[in-house]
Amino acid sequence: MELINRIVTGMLPVIPKFIVGRVASRYIAGLTLDDAIKVTRDLNNIGAMATIDLLGEDTTKKEHAEDAVKVYHQILDAIAHHKVNSNISLKPTHLGLKVSYDLCLNLITEIVQHAHEQQNFLRIDMEDNTCTDDTLKIYYKIRQKYENVGVVIQAYLRRSIKDIQSLKEMKANLRLCKGIYREPRHLAYQNRAIIIRNFAFLLEELLKAGCYVGIATHCEEVIWHALRIIHQLQLQPHQYEFQMLLGVEPELRKILIDAGHRLRVYVPFGSEWYAYSTRRLRENPKIANYVLRDMLGMKTQVVK
Ligand code: FDA
Repeated sequence: MELINRIVTGMLPVIPKFIVGRVASRYIAGLTLDDAIKVTRDLNNIGAMATIDLLGEDTTKKEHAEDAVKVYHQILDAIAHHKVNSNISLKPTHLGLKVSYDLCLNLITEIVQHAHEQQNFLRIDMEDNTCTDDTLKIYYKIRQKYENVGVVIQAYLRRSIKDIQSLKEMKANLRLCKGIYREPRHLAYQNRAIIIRNFAFLLEELLKAGCYVGIATHCEEVIWHALRIIHQLQLQPHQYEFQMLLGVEPELRKILIDAGHRLRVYVPFGSEWYAYSTRRLRENPKIANYVLRDMLGMKTQVVK
């Protein structure tokens, strides 16, 4: 089955977009902000928090980045208006990082300012290695003025151990994840066991330093390490949170919530779903099953 999965993953670029869209719909709240608010409310009702993300990346035009900012303002207003428990996440390249560093810094600062007024929080997602330096620079710059902003550290990157040193000193609010992009060996560990060990190592360093960490994973082994560290450090639930992606492992999500841990679900919405969806599908161990069933016209139960 693993071989078939690899073949289907390799074929993703030539699989018709409508099939990818159908199979990946479990990962996306919908096309509109109303869809995202509805999914967020449903998550809140089962005890989960959310982080709403407007899908989009690699913006090449200033105007498109500015359009995204307008939507982020609407998201913040909608969260406040509907009184749902959610913060927001965004990708720097969606906000123009590849157009100009200054543009991106100014636009993200504008959204953080609005989030600050709403007593809300903004997480800057981490993209591929070409963005790491600039993303951290933007985070440091904004953090000089605002506390309601956080960034992401990827456990697969060899540099992360160095990157967390100054983040520890400032007690940064971080999301820690394995990392999703395909990176070369000289930059990123390629071995799953080492990435898990590095995740546990970085997590322990950050929590010991008093950082609030969003432990973003669906991996039982990483979660076991997290629970071990939380226990050893005698942390209270308000000192960390678990984070998962919409459409992935709802059962594990419930297990953690029932055990009294805070849990946040990443809720992406919007029309630019393709790049995000293919990344998610590549990580799905059942991708071949889902794609083949869809092509044969068989329905797969979608659980968000
Ligand atoms: P792993 O990939 O080993 O998955 C563990 C298990 O979870 C699998 O065996 C399977 O059962 C299930 N699973 C995982 N993915 C699945 C899928 N797509 N469909 C169905 N089942 C699946 N990365 C990044 O580079 N920058 C970022 O900013 C973020 N942000 C982010 C936010 C949040 C809230 C999460 C949960 C993750 C991210 N990521 C990310 C992605 C992250 O780096 C990583 O690629 C995924 O979380 C998958 O890694 P796991 O730790 O879940 O382990």
